[in-house]
Amino acid sequence: MGEKSLELPEPFKIKMIEKITLHPKEKRKELIEKAGSNVFMLKAEDVFIDLLTDSGTSAMSDHQWAGMIETTQSYAGSRSYYSLKKAMKEIFGFKYLIPVHQGRAAENILFSTMIFPGCYVPNNMHFDTTEANIMRNKGIPVNLVIEDAYDSTKILPFKGNMDTEKLEHFIQDKTPEKIPLIMITITNNSVGGQPVSMRNVKEVSKIAKKHGLPFFIDACRFAENCYFIKQREEGYRNKTIKEISRELFSYADGCTFSGKKEALTNIGGMLCTNNEELYEKLRNLTIVIEGFVTYGGLACRELEAMARGLYEAIDENYQAYRHRQMEYLAKLLRSGGVPIVEPPGGHAIFIDAKKFLPHISPEQFPAQALTVQLYIESGVRVVEIGSSCFGKVDEKTGEFIPARMELMRLAIPRRTYTDNHLKYVAECLIRLYEKRKQIRGLRRVYAPKLLGHFTARFEPIN
Ligand code: F0G
Repeated sequence: MGEKSLELPEPFKIKMIEKITLHPKEKRKELIEKAGSNVFMLKAEDVFIDLLTDSGTSAMSDHQWAGMIETTQSYAGSRSYYSLKKAMKEIFGFKYLIPVHQGRAAENILFSTMIFPGCYVPNNMHFDTTEANIMRNKGIPVNLVIEDAYDSTKILPFKGNMDTEKLEHFIQDKTPEKIPLIMITITNNSVGGQPVSMRNVKEVSKIAKKHGLPFFIDACRFAENCYFIKQREEGYRNKTIKEISRELFSYADGCTFSGKKEALTNIGGMLCTNNEELYEKLRNLTIVIEGFVTYGGLACRELEAMARGLYEAIDENYQAYRHRQMEYLAKLLRSGGVPIVEPPGGHAIFIDAKKFLPHISPEQFPAQALTVQLYIESGVRVVEIGSSCFGKVDEKTGEFIPARMELMRLAIPRRTYTDNHLKYVAECLIRLYEKRKQIRGLRRVYAPKLLGHFTARFEPIN
């Protein structure tokens, strides 16, 4: 009577563990120096808590593992292809499925088929691989997220939305003939894992239809996005995540999907569409570069794990736990004054490095410098999403054009770390915040043109 309802704990228990080790600080310093101040170049075993990415790092369930053993391996028409197709149809609702080995393979097949030199591909915000796959095909990626997304302090329910007015103007300005497709990324990874509302998806779809343009969703984190819709958008509270997901995808002509996120697997992806003619083309290219269309570069056991994982991702108890864990980390960081992107994202907490390190200019990569210091301080690996990732060098003038935001992302692998791990991360980051004035910037000494941040090298500026 009158009792406050209890917050449920993790809806699972631990069955198998993996040992992790924290090296002494001096060793961590040495290792990151050898790695050219780039955490992608560290050995995973030299990392204590790995928040580099939420991609391919989920702990799989016993049900997924059992499915991997139970299924049979076949080149064509395997049982698990049909399990995955059934799950995709129930949850996404598209007619045609092409399994692929990961999200960027779906992007490669789609863009190699649809993109022509000099065309434009609008999105709320492209992820780095999406952007690179468009540029590789000589297209021009365009980000039309709402302006508020660039303000890390602004609290809005759907900060990942596309600016539909900007989109309409953009299409009129460039003409529909120069736009092979429109995309929207849910959740919007690059600006803080922020969700997109159903209303926004519907409006973008309407604009695409009006101009006769195909509309594709980058669906990597669809279930987290649908949970946000359930919590925040009027009219969805009593709907299941599956119902919300079905409605959301019903507005699109297809999607690219990385199973490494919300199929809760370590590898895998999907390319889906309703368009038969397009499917024919995609299918043929898939056979050339990924494998036959009923396995798409995967072992059948991986198809089975994805099929089962998709149902686990739309489980409401799981999503409630996932979002609660994100809130928990955000709350700890806020209490120490650490400037985070508000509100917390669906898969990660992002730190605003411009606010954390106002004395370091974008040319000296503040978010990268912070990433390096966090590793030295704590053995925790996170990732820069700032000018190393999205900065550009003007080909004509050689001028460096920084990214609009300097973010450091703490991506939380699914079902992998406990609240205590996150408490340690927060404590280390707060300690670093207290001595932030001592942190120096970095000089980039090497970076390839496309996706440079993966292999770039830096030197500390003294
Ligand atoms: N789209 C988005 C929004 C992504 O976040 C990613 C990957 C991809 C596409 C590509 O998928 O890795 O399976 O090829 N994001 C990971 C990350 C790598 O760390 O955010 P993939």
